[in-house]
Amino acid sequence: MITFDYTNVLESSVGSHGLPESSLSAAAGSAQRAVAAIDAAHVEGKLGFANIPTTEKPINDVLTFAREHRFKNILILGIGGSALGPAALEAALARPNATSKLVVLDNIDPDFIAGTLEALDPADTFVNVIAKSGVTAETMATFAFVRKWMNDALGSSKLRDRFAVTTDPEKGDLLAIARQERFPVFEIPRNVGGRFSVLTPVGTLPAALLGLDVVSMMRGAEQTAAQCRKPFFDNPALAAAFVQWILDHQLRKSILVLFPYSQALWKFAFWFKQLWGESLGKRFDRRKNEVHCGQTPTAALGVTDQHSQLQLFIEGPNDKSFLFWSVREFHDTLKLEHPYKNFDSMGYLQGRTMAELFSSERQATEMAITEAGRPNSTVTIERVDATAMGSLIMFSQYMTAYAGEFYDIDAFDQPGVEYGKKLTFCLMDRPGFEEFRPKIEAERRKTRKIVR
Ligand code: PA5
Repeated sequence: MITFDYTNVLESSVGSHGLPESSLSAAAGSAQRAVAAIDAAHVEGKLGFANIPTTEKPINDVLTFAREHRFKNILILGIGGSALGPAALEAALARPNATSKLVVLDNIDPDFIAGTLEALDPADTFVNVIAKSGVTAETMATFAFVRKWMNDALGSSKLRDRFAVTTDPEKGDLLAIARQERFPVFEIPRNVGGRFSVLTPVGTLPAALLGLDVVSMMRGAEQTAAQCRKPFFDNPALAAAFVQWILDHQLRKSILVLFPYSQALWKFAFWFKQLWGESLGKRFDRRKNEVHCGQTPTAALGVTDQHSQLQLFIEGPNDKSFLFWSVREFHDTLKLEHPYKNFDSMGYLQGRTMAELFSSERQATEMAITEAGRPNSTVTIERVDATAMGSLIMFSQYMTAYAGEFYDIDAFDQPGVEYGKKLTFCLMDRPGFEEFRPKIEAERRKTRKIVR
């Protein structure tokens, strides 16, 4: 069960940089509109992310497929919402000595691709090409390269056993190519956008191929989806969304620092950054007012960043809100028994655990940030396991969807990203994108101001 502690966003904790308790009580009623809107969008079929854990067929399909495909390396070709989720799941749930490992090619830096493939044996590798749109330049280019790499090594007759495609069920070149090649296809429902798709085969297929517990993950997600539809004070996602929105809107906390005290959740923070940033960073609201809204998400890792960014957080500009992710129990607590107990800097650690020190450091950071008048809140899970990851994912998706309602924007589109994709197509002479040519020529005509 996820909890959300908002004590330290209140005026009583952080003074004038906090919220009066009354603003939350006042929101409790009106926030129900956000719940009703997201519910209605699901009922009407416009949104689908909350229904995924209870849709059995795609879950069973990936489990059956994974039982029949055991490989040392699972190579993902995808980017953004088609890569960050599986990477977060592996980082959180895979044991270091696992028999299969995930390799994610989510950049087209040629040296990165060449170096990554050099370290892989095609004979031990299964490739999952993931793209909701089925046309993204980076993924299609990487697919072309990796297909040849695999073909050269194993021959065309083996390709069908080495590739699976995850994409839109109806459109896109990737789907057409998969059909032509007779590669297995896993579907991303039409009403689930890229950054909301980690619980579809985008995340579940790689997770199942890695031997992770997909069933528990879905159970966690389903339970949390139910929690996310409750009234305000029983609904952590709704309260968390409201708190971030009002801190940004009224108190100008335009930066959201995601602060996991768990190494396992570090890549999850990167997944969340995309979800929050791309969903809420919008030029127009629903009434076409130019609003340029959205909090800038950034990440800090406890305890590592205490010795890096924390000084800025405590004494720098008070323009941030902090969201800690805390874990009640660790798989190992690591008792400290050492021979140097006569030294002050170590004696006090004798007989204590690493988990106690970790938790004390989290509390100390929270106290220091609060004392400096920086609003902060905490999401807590029991431990990092498959159930909790399903929960955290569903919580984050609902939190983002509700924040979209508070900002009154479309949290499910990404016109800025699409525009960049179109300019790339034009720069690379893809037919159909000639209309952008004048802009590119104007850019090329600019006199560059360069310091040498
Ligand atoms: O959330 C989104 O829709 C985007 O960030 C996509 O995930 C990203 O652009 C990759 O798109 P695709 O999956 O179509 O390759």
